[in-house]
Amino acid sequence: MSEYTIAVLAGDGIGPEVMAEAEKVLNAVEQRFGISIKRNAYPVGGYAIDNHGEALPATTLLGCEQSDAILFGSIGGPKWDTLPLEQRPERAALLTLRSHFDLFSNLRPAKIYPGLEALSPLRADIAASGVDVLVVRELTSGIYFGQPKGREGEGEDTVAFDTMRYTQAEIRRIAHSAFKAAQYRRKKVSSVDKANVLVCSRLWREVTEEVAQEYPDVELEHIYIDNATMQLIKDPAQFDVMLCSNLFGDIISDECAMLTGSMGLLASASMNGEGFGLYEPAGGSAPDIAGQGIANPVAQILSASMMLRFSLGQAAAADAIDAAVVQTLADGVLTGELLDTANRHKAATTAQVGDAIVQRILAAE
Ligand code: NAD
Ligand code: IPM
Ligand code: MN
Repeated sequence: MSEYTIAVLAGDGIGPEVMAEAEKVLNAVEQRFGISIKRNAYPVGGYAIDNHGEALPATTLLGCEQSDAILFGSIGGPKWDTLPLEQRPERAALLTLRSHFDLFSNLRPAKIYPGLEALSPLRADIAASGVDVLVVRELTSGIYFGQPKGREGEGEDTVAFDTMRYTQAEIRRIAHSAFKAAQYRRKKVSSVDKANVLVCSRLWREVTEEVAQEYPDVELEHIYIDNATMQLIKDPAQFDVMLCSNLFGDIISDECAMLTGSMGLLASASMNGEGFGLYEPAGGSAPDIAGQGIANPVAQILSASMMLRFSLGQAAAADAIDAAVVQTLADGVLTGELLDTANRHKAATTAQVGDAIVQRILAAE
């Protein structure tokens, strides 16, 4: 029997609620595919600050190091918003994990599935033309990590600064991720930048052009970030792979999630290029709906599917999850945020969506 060990970091807000559903789904694929996925839960984020004094305890980091992959929920929330930046869950836990494991390649696939156009807030004719975008986001450099970063002075003389910084090597490796992914898709890379203003973006363009020479079968276009955000709403079908720096990819991926219907649909894989990865919903801890059992678990479940595919080599199990998710949505088992106000009373709970997905995984056996 194939056996794996994963670290489960549920975190804050809706994290534990949607993670419980992903765990049910992992139980189902264990049963159906005869594999064993040992799960070790570790504290992280605000929960870890409250209970262990820091957002990323050493035992959590060690547990991740000893695992085949990390399944991550979400972290942060109003309770920890006033902490100094370096102690906040977002930086102290999530950004540290990304950087510690060199998870530079972040894949965020957003798709409107055939028949599910009505979930999209786009105008009907635009939704019907299709959304099938893979955001490839650089995740361990750029303005998130560049030095110097800080704040100095007092009163009106206070100055704050972040540094956007990219090395050629960092751009090159994420560009390769994007072109490789495009070869398995519709063979188009739209590289998103602000080359009319930013020096980093000039280098980004140069290096992307160079890398493109190695992929003659893939078309490369450059597009400014401001134009890209509006083109995504006007004509999303023109995009296949969107190659983005760290901050631009953060913004573009939330927009892509919403084009398909909800933040709660967008899964993500953050990979080191050697098979190790952290898998998490692109959305956050959703404090506005946490604790009510109404969060959409699909992004967490699809993140588990990406983990099975990319880190555990279990493509058949991943396919089964993906198919069960699409079927569940098509059958109208939907959390409230996917429904219009007239139909909101038909909303399924987090657990009902999870159960429906499990049922469809097992029924297909
Ligand atoms: P958010 O993504 O948590 O929420 C934005 C909106 O999307 C909210 O209206 C929320 O209800 C909705 N939403 C998100 N996930 C949903 C789901 N699964 N089902 C239904 N609706 C969903 O973004 P925010 O409010 O800006 O951030 C809240 C906290 O989460 C902040 O502390 C932020 O730093 C943190 N955050 C963490 C992660 C992460 O852990 N990976 C990602 C993004 C934000
Ligand atoms: C995401 C999140 C994170 C990011 C935050 C929580 C640090 O928004 O994964 O998209 O900005 O990368
Ligand atoms: Mn984000």
